[in-house]
Amino acid sequence: MKKVVITEFGDVSKLAIVECNLPEPAAGEVQLSVEYSIVLGSDVNMRRGTYPFQKKAPLTPGYSVLGTVRLNGKGCSKFKVGDRVACLSKYEGQAELINLPERFLVPVPEGVDRKAAVALVLDCVTAYQMLRHAADVKSGQRIFIHGLSGAVGGALLSLGKIQGAQVFGTTKHEELRTLGAVPFDYSNKNWITAMQELGGGDAVFDPLGFESFDESYSVLRKGGILVGYGMNLPALTKRARPSAFPAILKLLSKNLFFWSGKRTTFFGVRRSSKNFMHDLELLFEWLRSGNISVPIKATFRLEEIQKAHREYAGSSRIGSIVIEISRSGCVAITQAIKRAFEATTYHSFLQADFTLPIHIADIRWLPHKLKPWHSFGTNHANDRGLEHRRRRGARGHAAIGPRTGSRSHYGSLPLVWLTRSIQTRYQKSYKV
Ligand SMILES: NC(=O)c1ccc[n+]([C@@H]2O[C@H](COP(=O)([O-])OP(=O)(O)OC[C@H]3O[C@@H](n4cnc5c(N)ncnc54)[C@H](OP(=O)(O)O)[C@@H]3O)[C@@H](O)[C@H]2O)c1
Repeated sequence: MKKVVITEFGDVSKLAIVECNLPEPAAGEVQLSVEYSIVLGSDVNMRRGTYPFQKKAPLTPGYSVLGTVRLNGKGCSKFKVGDRVACLSKYEGQAELINLPERFLVPVPEGVDRKAAVALVLDCVTAYQMLRHAADVKSGQRIFIHGLSGAVGGALLSLGKIQGAQVFGTTKHEELRTLGAVPFDYSNKNWITAMQELGGGDAVFDPLGFESFDESYSVLRKGGILVGYGMNLPALTKRARPSAFPAILKLLSKNLFFWSGKRTTFFGVRRSSKNFMHDLELLFEWLRSGNISVPIKATFRLEEIQKAHREYAGSSRIGSIVIEISRSGCVAITQAIKRAFEATTYHSFLQADFTLPIHIADIRWLPHKLKPWHSFGTNHANDRGLEHRRRRGARGHAAIGPRTGSRSHYGSLPLVWLTRSIQTRYQKSYKV
């Protein structure tokens, strides 16, 4: 499988696409064929080695994933092979396959836009939890959001409006006024006096960090709360980033001035938190029913990961950045064919004196037209037999190749057809 690797900390040239194998899922884990993941400020910070408490390089980022179940590990039965699920993965999401604990997977409702769904897992859940659980925003309250046009900022805006709040914030996008927000340009500090003259905000949401936390605190009214949730300004301005620890310490130490009546907190989304699964399911339902929409700023293919990082802070559009990894589960099967092509000579290929080992779970992705040529395992079981085994959750490998009898005449045909058929069907240029 292919995956993104940050080989060492540094600029975008440290992002590579590598080929590797993923072990079968351990007990309690499920293996997914990943269709979509996301890129956000934390990816840029992870690449620069400045994300709080992050893994050392080499590492694979990918904060959320959406994909189909490919294999169930021991003890897993909640999902069937082929079910579409999503997960807050934090790492390893920018890969064609991923193993994840079954208990953190959430089914994706039929009919929802998959790009919106994968972005929702992190961006909307973060916004929803900050509004509802961290700040407990009530109808009529004034809230101030840094980065109204951002992935989390935009979600705070729409969820804040649903909550009945008056929304103010910073952005260069004047058009956000049509969504009911009062936008201020962040290139000057006019928003500080404007908010103070209004009497201050009940809640301020700040992903920018050190200096910004002071400014945000200054626009809180008595009884208000400042929710810090990032240290993103250096990633946006391409400056070196100081350690996260002093910024968080400074933010939280403001609580010592209890007589001010203001509070501060730092929010970090966690999939193991009490409300996470419930909130994600609720937001998926709101997405399905059209209560909320999730704008997508840009979509990149896995191979374009460097471009995604380069354009992270430069886009003039609003919303989340999505990485398209595979639109189907045909990746594994296409790679099996590729390996077979590489491992054979032209002569033996024409004779088709080999079969392709593929995982039983991937049999479902074979184009229907090819079924007559399948030959499975040593006993040449028929298609129905194999499909039956797959449905019963059979694991391990089978072999596909021409049926005995057609081998000498049409040996190479099925593989060529298989390859073309997969490419046409999914309109992807897998080079096999
Ligand atoms: N703690 C958590 O649980 C959690 C969860 C999710 C994300 N995060 C963090 O939240 C941060 C924001 O992520 P995101 O994906 O929402 O961001 P994003 O989509 O990249 O949005 C960036 C925003 O910053 C604004 N901006 C750009 N340059 C700026 C500047 N010089 N000063 C002020 N604002 C500027 C942009 O406004 P314009 O478009 O108007 O230029 C845009 O609205 C990241 O650091 C991420 O790691 C934390």
